[in-house]
Amino acid sequence: EQGDRESMFIVNEWACQYFHTILQQDVDGMAIGKQYFRSRGIRDDIISKFKLGFALTKRDALLEEARRKGYKDEYLVKTGLCYTGEHGTYDRFAGRAIFPWFNVSGKVVAFGGRKLDAATKGVQQKYVNSPDSEIYHKDHELYGIYQAKKAIVKCDCVYMVEGYTDVIAMHQCGLENVVANSGTALSIYQIRMLHRFTQNIVLLYDGDAAGIHAAMRGTDMLLQEGMNVKVLLLPDGDDPDSFSRKHTAEEFRKYIDDHQTDFIQFKTDLLLKGVNDPLRRAEAINSIVRSVSVIPDSIVRSTYLTDCSRRLGVDEHTLITQTNKFIAQER
Ligand code: CTP
Ligand code: MN
Ligand code: MN
Ligand code: MN
Ligand code: MN
Repeated sequence: EQGDRESMFIVNEWACQYFHTILQQDVDGMAIGKQYFRSRGIRDDIISKFKLGFALTKRDALLEEARRKGYKDEYLVKTGLCYTGEHGTYDRFAGRAIFPWFNVSGKVVAFGGRKLDAATKGVQQKYVNSPDSEIYHKDHELYGIYQAKKAIVKCDCVYMVEGYTDVIAMHQCGLENVVANSGTALSIYQIRMLHRFTQNIVLLYDGDAAGIHAAMRGTDMLLQEGMNVKVLLLPDGDDPDSFSRKHTAEEFRKYIDDHQTDFIQFKTDLLLKGVNDPLRRAEAINSIVRSVSVIPDSIVRSTYLTDCSRRLGVDEHTLITQTNKFIAQER
């Protein structure tokens, strides 16, 4: 219902400002919340740009303030700011550092809340996120798109990272064309949103098994949508945030420039390095050719095949024949 959506946007906008004001002005908010962001090296201008905030520890602090201001419980629950448990209604994000999600036109659609203690294990989840709602479908949104869209157009390229703090770290290093899909699989809706701004994407994922897996999975869907895909995996154990803390902004930007590879190189390195068994090599080559076969533009396809042939040491005509076979199968 339209009225519901409007009321949800209004209450989210208010909550975003409320969390942000607590971080900037409340005694506890500054001592706990702001201190947390400071300890992670996040600058004040970035705190303002992303409207970062803090939710007081009291488990109905937001609820009470919202009621005082006349906001209805109904919309606090519908947006997911509060939830109704067995014994009453409570704040979802109490005691957490707040990352608001803006949609592409700048409306607040959701929040992510990080627990403050460094330990990631324990009963409490590291991140709590708003549930899907009438105004928020997680797989339709990208964290950071509102702050990034101008730079994406200007650079004609977008960096895709995993997490909130990765987006923020990149902005701090002067790279503003960056969004995060927040640890989930890339969806067709997200890809199409990006394609409105650019055709070129660099997957900049954590250098762990999960990051590699996510890059492999995302690539074919991106190619299918006509995007040019590059991949950059950080050294094992690092994400863009932790990596940027170990280097200067300049070194970080240079590392990114020097280490991105196109998806064929990425797949070749991953699937073929050290593999000598002919059947396993054939399997890997087939997997690469299958990726090429989903590219809609036939000229782009054929340039990739020329490249593959050179790099894999396989006759180009053989690769073309195999690609066409895959294309026929897909029809
Ligand atoms: N994520 C989530 N819920 C979790 C874990 C992760 O929603 N329980 C999402 C968050 O958007 C997070 C992203 O997946 O930013 C990447 O996860 P991870 O790499 O574990 O977190 P970081 O962003 O690196 O967070 P931090 O540096 O604060 O540990
Ligand atoms: Mn296009
Ligand atoms: Mn990770
Ligand atoms: Mn991470
Ligand atoms: Mn991190």
